[in-house]
Amino acid sequence: MTSTVRPEGAPAPALPEFPMPRATGCPFDPPPALKAEQERGPLRTVRLWDGTTPWLATRYADQRALLSDPRVSADVTRPGYPSPAPVRGSSFSFILMDDPEHARQRRMVTAPFTIKRVEAMRPAVQRIVDGLIDTMLSGPPRTDLVQSFALPVPSLVICELLGVPYTDHDFFQENSKTIISRSATPEERGAAHAKLIGYLDELVGHKTAAPADDLLSKLGTRVEAGELSRREAAEMGVLLLLAGHETTANMIALGTLALLEHPGQLALLRDTEDPKTVAGAVEELLRYLNITHGGRRRVALEDIECAGEVIRAGDGIIVPNDIGNRDPEVFTDPDRLDLRRDARRHVAFGFGVHQCLGQPLARMELQVVYSTLYRRIPTLRLDADPKELPFKHDGSVYGVHELPVAW
Ligand code: HEM
Repeated sequence: MTSTVRPEGAPAPALPEFPMPRATGCPFDPPPALKAEQERGPLRTVRLWDGTTPWLATRYADQRALLSDPRVSADVTRPGYPSPAPVRGSSFSFILMDDPEHARQRRMVTAPFTIKRVEAMRPAVQRIVDGLIDTMLSGPPRTDLVQSFALPVPSLVICELLGVPYTDHDFFQENSKTIISRSATPEERGAAHAKLIGYLDELVGHKTAAPADDLLSKLGTRVEAGELSRREAAEMGVLLLLAGHETTANMIALGTLALLEHPGQLALLRDTEDPKTVAGAVEELLRYLNITHGGRRRVALEDIECAGEVIRAGDGIIVPNDIGNRDPEVFTDPDRLDLRRDARRHVAFGFGVHQCLGQPLARMELQVVYSTLYRRIPTLRLDADPKELPFKHDGSVYGVHELPVAW
C-alpha cells in the first residue's frame, strides 16, 4: 500500500504491530514504541491484527490536516478501513459515516450539547456529584471510586438527557464494556451490540407512543416524520449512551489516579475556587491522558499528499491522538502533567467533522467533578499498590477497571 520504493529482492522491513503495549510502571504515557515511531518520522506504516498495513500519522499538524480533509473517510464499510478488531453486524451510527448523511444525522442530536444547554445542566450535575460524595462519606472510609463515583456521574447524566431509566445501568454498562473491549470475540461484541440495539429500539417505540422531554423522544418524533428509521434512531441512542458514559467515567477515574500520583498538581485543583483554573486543568488532563487511545481510524478516498508521501486512494490511515497530544513541536515538555499550561489546542476530542459532539457536556462534568471531589475529601488517597491496578489495556477507551481509594 505504501508509495515508498524498495529495491527489487530486498526483504520487506518488519513493521511494528499496532496497537503497541504501554511500558510497565508508566500508565499515563503512550506506548514507547509509538513515541519512537513519532521520532522516526511523520508518516509511518504499521501492521494490524488482520495483517493490513495502514499509515500512521504521528505528528499533531498532520493529524489535524488529515482529520479535517474531506478526501478522508470515516466509513467503516469501505475497503481499506483499518478496523480495530473483527466486527460482526455492528454499526455505530454517524460516527462511522461521511457527510452528507453524517451531518444530517448529527444535526438531529446537537441541541442538548450546545454550551448554553450544557451550562443550564451544571447545577443538576453539581447535585449529582455532591449526592454521590455524601453517600461515600456516610459509609466506611474506603471504596472503589469507579463503581461509587466515576461511573455513576456520567451514567446518571446521559440517562437523564436521553430518557433512559438509570435502573437499567447494570445492563447497558455490561454490554458497553463488551462492545469496546478488544479482547471480546466478534460473536460476543455482536451479541452485546444486538442487545443494546434491541433495548433502545424498544425504548424509542415507547417514547414515540408517549413522548417526554428527552432526546430519545425527539428521535421518536423524527421516526414518525419518516426522517429516520427506528433502527437508525436506536443506533444513535447506542452511540450516545456508550460515548456519553464510558469516556467521561474513565477520565474521572484515571484523572484522579494521575492527580493522586502528582500531589502538587492535585493541590492546585483542591485549593482553587477559580473556574478558569479548573477549566484549564481539565484541558491539560484531557491532553495528558488522551483516553481514546486506539487512534482515529480513516480511509483515503483519493490520493493525498502528506508529509512528503502520497497516501493512495483506498489506503487505511490511523491518527493516534495520544502522541499528537505529546508532540514536542506543539506542547513544551509534553510528557509533564502541568495543570497551569494552556492545553486548549489538544486533540483528545478528535478534530474535523467528527470532533466530539459531547465535548461541552464532558468538559462541564469534569469541571464539576475535579473542582468538588478533592475539596470535599482532601485526605483522599490511593488504597492499593499502583503497580497492582487493573488498567484497561484491551479496550478502545483507556482507564482503570477499579480504583480503590480511602480517606
Ligand atoms: C472526556 C470524555 C470524552 C472524550 C475523551 C471523547 C472523545 C471523542 C473523540 C476522540 C471523538 C472523535 C471520534 C473520531 O473522530 O473518530 C468523539 C466523537 C463523539 N463523541 Fe465523544 N468523547 C467524550 C465524551 C462524550 C460525551 C459525554 C458524549 C455525549 C453523548 C460524546 C459523544 C460523541 C459523539 C456522538 C461522537 C461522534 C461525533 C461525530 O461523528 O460527528 N462524547 N468523542
